[in-house]
Amino acid sequence: MAQADSGPPREAKSAEIAAAVGALVAGQVIGLPTETVYGLAADAANRAAVAEIYRIKGRPDDHPLIVHVLDATQARRWAVWSDGAQRLADAFWPGPLSIVLPRRADAPVWACAGQATIALRAPSHPVARQLMSGLLDVGITGLAAPSANRFGRVSPTRAAHVRSDLGDDVAIVLEGGAADVGIESTIVDLSRGRPVLLRPGHIGVDRLAEVLREPISAADADAPRVPGALPSHYAPVTPLVLVETQDLKKRIAAELAAGKRIAVWCFAASGFDGQIARSEAEQWYRLPDSIEAAERVLYADLREIDAAGFDLIVVEAPPISAQWAAITDRLTRAAAA
Ligand code: TXA
Ligand code: MG
Repeated sequence: MAQADSGPPREAKSAEIAAAVGALVAGQVIGLPTETVYGLAADAANRAAVAEIYRIKGRPDDHPLIVHVLDATQARRWAVWSDGAQRLADAFWPGPLSIVLPRRADAPVWACAGQATIALRAPSHPVARQLMSGLLDVGITGLAAPSANRFGRVSPTRAAHVRSDLGDDVAIVLEGGAADVGIESTIVDLSRGRPVLLRPGHIGVDRLAEVLREPISAADADAPRVPGALPSHYAPVTPLVLVETQDLKKRIAAELAAGKRIAVWCFAASGFDGQIARSEAEQWYRLPDSIEAAERVLYADLREIDAAGFDLIVVEAPPISAQWAAITDRLTRAAAA
């Protein structure tokens, strides 16, 4: 399992913030740490800078971006605000929740892929907040930022992941340590009369429903087409299979017998106390049974496994429950790739 970050402090030096502010004012894109995953950020109001995000990511131009703000006051500048949005912001911002709202007429359509709506999120990562506070002085109130990976690949949870994915395309990657949450934000759409969950995340539907005091619908055919909704999104390079706990031992033995080198991602409580064939062909990633810990290490582990060149990733299917929905969603998509 990827080690917890013991690296740099989670506060940027003022010179680093100043350099990032300068780059954003000049219309460049930067790597931005957030508590979910690292983002590839540009001034949302700068059309050419936002176009640069799409170019670097290789993202289809009909896929809208999330605009990151410091708080609800800034969010009102971009969206038609509502009581529901205020309740969610009061409860969960700053934090891993993106809210889709009707876009204000003067908000940049190019960050929203032409949609009449805009997705907004106030991240809690201290470095992101330091940067956005610094941006107030130069009049930048929104940062458009998708996850800082190439399109269709696993999101980055460390600065080093951003550098290895995007290399020279991004001059500045602010260091923020290992992302605390580790998977992308929950996205809830409040633009369509009733709240709709567009992407499950760390903040579950139960908590959203409690705060909004109404049920949250699952995305249906009317939902806007979003990259997170493509079946093969969030995929490692190595093929991945999801296997039920009771079938795990048999499946691993069969793959080893077939000569495959496999990485096994399973839960400590399943009681596997060692390798199955005790061979070099197996590597085990045992997860603590906390959902938070599994979310935190998922993408870093998948990247580590990819780099190690295994033939197959065998993942123990998580329990079927609302709490595990976000991680099951990412794993199911990875398995579909
Ligand atoms: O945690 C996160 O949300 C990270 C960090 C960097 O904040 N960002 C992220 O961005 O995951 P990205 O671009 O990889 O995913 C954004 C998702 C996409 O599925 C996109 O289609 C959806 O948000 N989205 C953005 N604007 C939308 C809108 N107006 N309506 C519906 N979906 C929208
Ligand atoms: Mg993404």
